[in-house]
Amino acid sequence: MFDRLYRSAVLGVASRKPVEDLVRARAWSVAQRFVAGEQSTTAIQAVQDLARDGILGNLDLLGEFVNSPETANIFAEQVLALQTQAAAAGVAPYVSVKLSSVGQGLTVNGEDLGLHNARRIVAQAREYGGFVCLDMEDHPRVDVTLAQLRTLIGEFGREHVGSVLQSYLYRSEADRAALDDLRPNLRIVKGAYLEPETVAMPVKADVDAAYRRLVYSHLKAGNYTNIATHDPEIISDVKMFVLSHGIPRTQFEFQMLYGIRRDLQKKLAAEGFTVRAYIPYGRDWYAYFSRRIAERPANVMFVLRGMLKG
Ligand code: FDA
Repeated sequence: MFDRLYRSAVLGVASRKPVEDLVRARAWSVAQRFVAGEQSTTAIQAVQDLARDGILGNLDLLGEFVNSPETANIFAEQVLALQTQAAAAGVAPYVSVKLSSVGQGLTVNGEDLGLHNARRIVAQAREYGGFVCLDMEDHPRVDVTLAQLRTLIGEFGREHVGSVLQSYLYRSEADRAALDDLRPNLRIVKGAYLEPETVAMPVKADVDAAYRRLVYSHLKAGNYTNIATHDPEIISDVKMFVLSHGIPRTQFEFQMLYGIRRDLQKKLAAEGFTVRAYIPYGRDWYAYFSRRIAERPANVMFVLRGMLKG
């Protein structure tokens, strides 16, 4: 309950324009703990640096909730350019895309612009032998995102596109089961948005229990599973689960966010597990940064100290 109150308080304060202006002006040096620079070149460099520790990368150009078709198309062009740049640097592109950033919900020529742009991005990823993960946003977008995932897997194959389920949503276990016929590559997360109690579990212990259930059922169904959490207890339970159920290491990977629990990322990679860091970059870092701060009380002090240092 405290977690929800804390998250709600931080995201509430962070959404005020004067707070945003202040944080943008004073906290960029702090934000760089979580964000790999403003340019694609620094993000690709971060992938190459992590590779030295045996950690893979998942590039994410920051931006969301775009409301003009022009901006959505520019954003999609930037993702396409990122994939080309990554491939040219010898990095098979693995990118995450928020469909709201490429026009989901905007209709152009009778077609959802988000789906149109996602098709272009996934088609190009397939050419380069890459992969696109459709990030999951707030709950009103879940139906359309999962429907678009179904369409894209049908057109390009599950080797090139997947998505995310959030364990805090009551609906996610049913959503997972309903996708089983596709054998999709799914990332399981706890969920980062401020959601009403009518759709999301308010108690953290319930979210954690639902997280385990989602991961275990997706693994047991034989599907590729991205275990995206920094929770050491869950990670150690998953290790036991795969061992006792004879699930091969080629059927899952651990995923964590850039700058968070790097020690654990390195340790898992050294133990021979596949580990991938989610590497966000770009000028539009504020919303992402606010969500990371809202996840952990200690991060507020970290930001305030950084801002005071200037
Ligand atoms: P939990 O919050 O219980 O934290 C466990 C431990 O991890 C903490 O005790 C702390 O040590 C560490 N930790 C967690 N967050 C931290 C932070 N911000 N700073 C420092 N330490 C921290 N969400 C979503 O809604 N849609 C999405 O598409 C994605 N995508 C995504 C990709 C990847 C690769 C990851 C790892 C996460 C996401 N998320 C997400 C975010 C996710 O929903 C969730 O908010 C965070 O992962 C935090 O939850 P944990 O599972 O780490 O557990």
